[in-house]
Amino acid sequence: MTDKIPLAGVIGSPVAHSKSPKLQNYWLKKYGIAGYYIPMDVAQSDLKEALQALPKLGFVGVNVTIPHKEQALKLSDVVTDRAALIGAANTLIFRKDGKIHADNTDGYGFLENLRQGAPHWVASAGPAAVFGAGGASRAVVAALAEAGATEIRLTNRTRARAEAIRAEFGPKITVYDWVQAGDMIDGAATVVNTTSLGMVGKPEFKVSLAALSPDAVVTDLVYAPLRTAFLEQAEAAGCTIVDGLGMLLFQATPGFERWFGKRPEVDEETRAVILEP
Ligand code: ATR
Repeated sequence: MTDKIPLAGVIGSPVAHSKSPKLQNYWLKKYGIAGYYIPMDVAQSDLKEALQALPKLGFVGVNVTIPHKEQALKLSDVVTDRAALIGAANTLIFRKDGKIHADNTDGYGFLENLRQGAPHWVASAGPAAVFGAGGASRAVVAALAEAGATEIRLTNRTRARAEAIRAEFGPKITVYDWVQAGDMIDGAATVVNTTSLGMVGKPEFKVSLAALSPDAVVTDLVYAPLRTAFLEQAEAAGCTIVDGLGMLLFQATPGFERWFGKRPEVDEETRAVILEP
């Protein structure tokens, strides 16, 4: 055992907006763990050098955010299956043998948030309809497939990105036209917005929910605002809605556990801490 205080952090550029330091340092304090979690703005050209230096400085691992998620995966020595499938890493562990272990916990965070917000939800209940085909969508689609969804309907403004996910992830996925996106939710048990539409400063996410079953569980990865117009519309249609904040919180728990030795709890107080301005 070493008596060094473990360090972790988040590497991105820009990184000032990241909620991770607030969250991880809140958990460190709550559980009385000696450790620090630091935001680090690192240029793309410096990423390799930074990842080599950090373990020598006492870092046990880092989160990785935009624009480094893909490159961090390539620079790692050991990669989990889910990170390889998604093609991006968000959690790195600096192992004692000098190797970098890369994981992607976004899909885990997505599923845990759904399970907490809609305890009756199961992936196998019926088709899942996923809007968007960016990085977040890849994690969501992989998680839904792994959790037992039998059919995943996918649509994206830029259709080629949705087609690329289908080509990589396989036959469970059907690509729909963005303009007919409303058709996707007919009979869907799970509906997910992974686009950035609806986020503060972005246009609203508008889709016809006429075909939506009240049995559907509807979630939005956008968490600012917490209750998007899309979620309000789904709630008015009688659906169970789950906001996106929990995904942000749950995706952080595997890293915290690996670095600091305790699986942190995601509860109302955690949500309140993160929502504080
Ligand atoms: P993330 O990692 O958060 O998924 P991203 O890879 O930039 O970020 O993807 C953003 C998603 O929001 C994409 O599905 C994007 O659609 P395109 O692939 O067509 O760009 C979607 N998106 C962003 N702005 C949009 C808009 N104005 N209309 C429709 N879709 C939009």
